[in-house]
Amino acid sequence: MDRLRDALKGVAKELAKSIHPGTVLGLGSGSTVATLLEELSPLVLAKTKTVAGVPTSTQIEMVATRCGIELAPFKGGVDLVLDGADQVDQGLNLIKGGGGALLKEKVVMGSARSTVIVAAENKFVRRLCDNGVRVPVEVFPMARESAKVRLSMLGGVPEERLMPKGYPYFTENGNIILDTLFEPADNPRDLEVRIKSTPGVAEVGIFTFKPITVYKLGTDGSFEVLKTHD
Ligand code: A5P
Repeated sequence: MDRLRDALKGVAKELAKSIHPGTVLGLGSGSTVATLLEELSPLVLAKTKTVAGVPTSTQIEMVATRCGIELAPFKGGVDLVLDGADQVDQGLNLIKGGGGALLKEKVVMGSARSTVIVAAENKFVRRLCDNGVRVPVEVFPMARESAKVRLSMLGGVPEERLMPKGYPYFTENGNIILDTLFEPADNPRDLEVRIKSTPGVAEVGIFTFKPITVYKLGTDGSFEVLKTHD
């Protein structure tokens, strides 16, 4: 873990170079972005106080506040998204939503001029859904049962996300999450679109935005930069 933190320190130094006065950041959610913000904010705040962040969850809003990053309302676009991922495939497609923030993360990433993902090397696979990693699907609660049927028809095995004591998990948008097992995806964009067309689905945790830059964090404290321009 400490070596991953070292890798994040290196990434923060790189990223600080591309953050300027007036930059509006999109702040993804999760533990990786939280640690990145802790490393990045002193470097950025030493240069300028006029950087603002649009949070995608209360979790990252709290981290940003603690780090002294000014919060900004979402006005339809951000300059640079910083986010994590649960899985990254060879084409730099992502599974996200392990923390339940996928809907706002997708809205903000879809509006970004550039996107940076930071993820530990153990999250990298050949195809999305390898190793049994499930796709989080955010669903309007009324569609709980019908969405399960439709996701099964797409070849999925949905499982409703629950709190530790068995209560249903609700997102910050008041929706439920069906963590759905699929066969490894040869065509993630197609799977994303097919899941999204299910009635009652608010958002799907497959992210296929391009261009994208991905920082792969090594357990030896190094990092690698991967880019695609498709
Ligand atoms: C939040 O809902 C997610 O999309 C996170 O970005 C993702 O789960 C990665 O989280 P960690 O950085 O905590 O692994």
